[in-house]
Amino acid sequence: MSRMKWMALAALMVACGGDGAPAADGDASTADAGPADAPIDAPESPLEFPDLEGVSVLEDMNADPNIVEVELVAGYRTLSLGDGLEFEMHAYNGQVPGPALVAAAGDEVIVHFRNDLVQPTTVHWHGLRIPDEMDGTPRVQEPVAPGATFEYRFVVPEAGTFWYHPHVRSHFQMERGLAGPIVIRDRLDPDYDAERVLVLDDILIDPDTGGIAPAFSFHGEAVHGRTGNVLLTNGHVSEEAPSGVATRHQVERWRVVNTANARTMQLSVEGATFRVIGTDGGRLAEPYVTERLLMPVGQRYDLEVTYSSPGRVELISHVPSLDAAGELIELAVPVFGVDVGDDATATAREISWPAAPVEPARPPTRDAEITMNALTDDAGNLNWVLNGLIAPEEPLFTFDHGSTVRLTLRNLAAPEHPFHLHGQFFEIVDQGTPWTSQPGLKDTVLVPGGETVEVIVSMDNPGRWMAHCHILEHAELGMMAEVVVSEPVAAP
Ligand code: C2O
Ligand code: CU
Repeated sequence: MSRMKWMALAALMVACGGDGAPAADGDASTADAGPADAPIDAPESPLEFPDLEGVSVLEDMNADPNIVEVELVAGYRTLSLGDGLEFEMHAYNGQVPGPALVAAAGDEVIVHFRNDLVQPTTVHWHGLRIPDEMDGTPRVQEPVAPGATFEYRFVVPEAGTFWYHPHVRSHFQMERGLAGPIVIRDRLDPDYDAERVLVLDDILIDPDTGGIAPAFSFHGEAVHGRTGNVLLTNGHVSEEAPSGVATRHQVERWRVVNTANARTMQLSVEGATFRVIGTDGGRLAEPYVTERLLMPVGQRYDLEVTYSSPGRVELISHVPSLDAAGELIELAVPVFGVDVGDDATATAREISWPAAPVEPARPPTRDAEITMNALTDDAGNLNWVLNGLIAPEEPLFTFDHGSTVRLTLRNLAAPEHPFHLHGQFFEIVDQGTPWTSQPGLKDTVLVPGGETVEVIVSMDNPGRWMAHCHILEHAELGMMAEVVVSEPVAAP
């Protein structure tokens, strides 16, 4: 890697290790924009969508149109990032990121999984509200031993953008490349000119060895989580940001996933207009316009990008960094681009937005609180704790099936925590900040240092579910707990 590149990367690294991440000034305003309510525009034939661009797709081996049956293997591969930078990564089916799992809401998914790693692993289907025994955490399944297989089988309940990754030694296995996107389609999804998947990640390269730095080797990693010195988009380093092509007046759907260990991303699209059409929990009832997306690890955003003029369009990652004088600045790093050509015959397209299902309001029936803090144990080791407990065996709470819980997340220490709850969706109570003004259903929410965030959780999926910080080093150091949602009461 050239010296210039290393210098830029070193700057990223310094900023990430520091305490002073700048306050996000992005304003996730819900100003309405885009076409007004329009009639439902359901495709006639079932689920005809453009091929996904940017990642490959797991091959469906089952002829039944309502069953998606795939093979998934966790193993190794050599990744080449250009400039002679080559090293061994972990990979699903030999790919970083792993190939996309694509299905339609209501489909049955069967995954024949094999572990070709030398350590145990599992596959967790982040955001899918499936039965807990298929959730892929060590609380609900014995990790899959090296050389062993496991069959995951579940029905996907709803459409949206999700992702899969291990839930064993995640800070190590995911840093090395184990993560892949999930695209669940819906017959009501509008028909876009193209659909792109953008898996955003970062990795920490050790300049001395040229390989991925060992876990917890970077000072500050236990405190802030690992932020890398190389940004990746669909496995490509940002200096060689992947590119697409389009023409003027086309409208695309970009499905964006943040799979980094710890890095909260701040994103904008330059050269085109965009609005947010989907979040963790799927399509938004009302799309909204924002200048900048604040995207903690774990979250997904679906963007509708409209090309009104020809030229270069870029997805920019705004990275806090330090300049030569030690002043905090923001680097604008292009992580994806589209070259938009002219088309004299095309005219502006309006995407008709499907009517939202009418969900009756659910006032909270119970309050609960989770505190987040650091705890230094007797041996002087740093731990991260939820409600004062280091990865407790006992569940923090048992909630009634069907209840609606106002959950207060109180961060008592300085570093931020992207809190993730398995198996359920919640809505963030808007407190007027960029991290709370995030409409729609979520499974992950950012709780900045010293802040309190409230979410309203629909406890609709019975079972044993993990609740944890998605900064993988924090999870590894204790910030991992369980909540139980009781079984539905049988009808009399
Ligand atoms: Cu993305 Cu517990 O997971
Ligand atoms: Cu955390």
